[in-house]
Amino acid sequence: MDQQKINLVVAACNKGGIGIEGRIPWRLKQDLAFFKKITTTTKDLQKQNAVVMGRKTWFSIPEKFRPLPNRVNIVLSRDLPRAPEGAYLARSLSEAVTMLSTNPLGAKVESVFVIGGSSVYEEAMTSGSFPCTLYLTRVLGDFECDTFIPSPDDCKFHKVPNGDNIPIENQTLSENGIDFRFEVYEKE
Ligand SMILES: NC(=O)c1ccc[n+]([C@@H]2O[C@H](COP(=O)([O-])OP(=O)(O)OC[C@H]3O[C@@H](n4cnc5c(N)ncnc54)[C@H](OP(=O)(O)O)[C@@H]3O)[C@@H](O)[C@H]2O)c1
Repeated sequence: MDQQKINLVVAACNKGGIGIEGRIPWRLKQDLAFFKKITTTTKDLQKQNAVVMGRKTWFSIPEKFRPLPNRVNIVLSRDLPRAPEGAYLARSLSEAVTMLSTNPLGAKVESVFVIGGSSVYEEAMTSGSFPCTLYLTRVLGDFECDTFIPSPDDCKFHKVPNGDNIPIENQTLSENGIDFRFEVYEKE
């Protein structure tokens, strides 16, 4: 891992909702494809990216799909006695970042992606400890949610163009009657 910069990938609807009863409230194939591509692609083909997630997000992934393939999976938990099969365990976000920036994982990992859930996004967005790039899929609707992220504007993120990674950013797309768009934000 080159530096302690982290990327966040999240899809959020109006008012910042990201989940309901342990699942994502919508199904957008284009967003799932984007998530897979951005978290998997590396410049150095000898390396992999890492995905860092809270315990509930890990267990919300169907068993047959976890660990997420071709990525180093890190699960955050204060209580789990041992790492889930196929994943590493970290007791805090900063422990995860330290694990990923020191060997042996440091030599293998190119970029770090925080993939949820709400407290992990919130910590990364508000802590000030790490520069962040936020890949936000804005789902343009009001879905019932019980988990939320803060507004990027309230956390001093600014919107940036990111044409290389997001070929269709800022265009409103539509799938199954749901409008959405890809946006990128940064915080130093
Ligand atoms: N829309 C999206 O892009 C998106 C992405 C991901 C998830 N989601 C949705 O979000 C919901 C799950 O998120 P959630 O916020 O409820 O749970 P979560 O963040 O995935 O998991 C919470 C648990 O993770 C552990 N944890 C969190 N932060 C930690 C830290 N800094 N250090 C150590 N452990 C930490 C704790 O586990 P212990 O209790 O074991 O200590 C905590 O109880 C689901 O509905 C899911 O579908 C949506």
